[in-house]
Amino acid sequence: MTELRDLLALTLEHAAAYRETVATDTKLHRSYHEMRERVASPLPEQGADNAAIIDELVALAEGGLMPTVGPRFFAWVMGASHPAGVAADWLVSAWGQNAGYHATAPAAAAFEEVAEAWLLDLLDLPRQSGIGFSTGATVANGTCLAAARTGTLLKAGWDPDADGLFGAPPVHLLLGADAHSSVFAALQLIGFGSKRVVSIATDAQGRMLPSALEAAIKPLSGPKIVIAQAGQINTGDFDPFAEIATIAKAHDAWVHVDGAFGLWARATPALKHLTDGIDAFDSWVTDGHKWLQVPYDCGFAIVRDKAILNRAMTQWSSYLPTTAQGDRVPANYVPELSRRARGIPVWALIKAYGRDGIAELVDGNCRLARRFAERLAAEPGVSVLNDVVLNQFVVSFGSGDAAARKAATEAVIAAVLADGTCFVNGANWRGDWAMRVSVSSAPTTEADIDMSADAIIAAWRKVQGH
Ligand SMILES: Cc1ncc(COP(=O)(O)O)c(C=O)c1O
Repeated sequence: MTELRDLLALTLEHAAAYRETVATDTKLHRSYHEMRERVASPLPEQGADNAAIIDELVALAEGGLMPTVGPRFFAWVMGASHPAGVAADWLVSAWGQNAGYHATAPAAAAFEEVAEAWLLDLLDLPRQSGIGFSTGATVANGTCLAAARTGTLLKAGWDPDADGLFGAPPVHLLLGADAHSSVFAALQLIGFGSKRVVSIATDAQGRMLPSALEAAIKPLSGPKIVIAQAGQINTGDFDPFAEIATIAKAHDAWVHVDGAFGLWARATPALKHLTDGIDAFDSWVTDGHKWLQVPYDCGFAIVRDKAILNRAMTQWSSYLPTTAQGDRVPANYVPELSRRARGIPVWALIKAYGRDGIAELVDGNCRLARRFAERLAAEPGVSVLNDVVLNQFVVSFGSGDAAARKAATEAVIAAVLADGTCFVNGANWRGDWAMRVSVSSAPTTEADIDMSADAIIAAWRKVQGH
């Protein structure tokens, strides 16, 4: 058997070689179906040498790795796994800590506690809030909404954690018509149901209309939860938080914000105004694996009333470690008991960037998104469909009816992917099939944006037969 030191050295070589390659090669070379055929094999009857397993793993994966850590990946809002985070994450795996309890993982618990305080400071949210370190924003949305369920129902004289939802007073859920799919998944998971929501009309940028919220909430009595959004997935825009806060306060509603990527606007003085009023709310979600560049997976469930979050998440058994009053128990902030020490790569990333570096990362990506959109919009037949307020935009190609534009846009996306200069994808926006562009990677430079804009314009000209 290969010694651990040799195995890790071999793995280091493979990992470094991949990162060097993906810095220039932004193409996905093998599809899922090709990969499935390539990887399929019968269950091994005997064990194998560790080094041989790693070599085989790397050889098999080749070509089937999405170039998310490269500089020209714009298809979804994904970070690029910053080297400091990757290195810290390797240690997390090597140390093998179970981060649920400080008694089982003292160092992990301490790093998570510091990371929690730093995040609240960076995002300028109420400092007494508690943060659950989750897999991502989907589970963080579920975690915060479970806390909202506990908080609003306790106020109505019902204990949902003890008595469940059968026979409970109905909880009214109000959310913008352009909310992210993960919110519906979270509602489904916590027993609220994805369809039992009041959909609030939005404007052209996907922002909730305060007048529509006011009209919808007015006749409702009993527990209410309003779900707002910081960073719409297509336009990057923000709900009008200050107006929502006034309405919600008047109607005694819990307000939760899905800010999977957009909440990071609060970390930069240049963009913070987009989130004005957001700190009046009750819970917020953001991701570490998006803009903060933490390696997958890492999300944050932030709840103002820590006691309510803990109440909704706590489990207890006599075999679990006892804790002293005032100690932070990581397991009481998320649905999991056992989990990896996510606070450690978060601590490393915040150290790597510092407050100024995070602000520049977010500002820089937004500047690049604007440059990208302007370059594309200058080309005849290309329409940018939203005001670029953050790092996201949607763009469609061609003229004629929606079907003709969809065909043209799909053809451009296919041509761009075949060329491989950059990676983009499509989505529906306001009845148009559009190319979605997210600029959320630390390695992306102006040169990458210009190269990518040139490639997209060339693809569009090719589709037109020029
Ligand atoms: C606004 C928004 N909310 C939630 C999510 C889900 O996040 P995750 O994939 O980390 O679960 C995303 C993902 O892109 C998002 O953009």
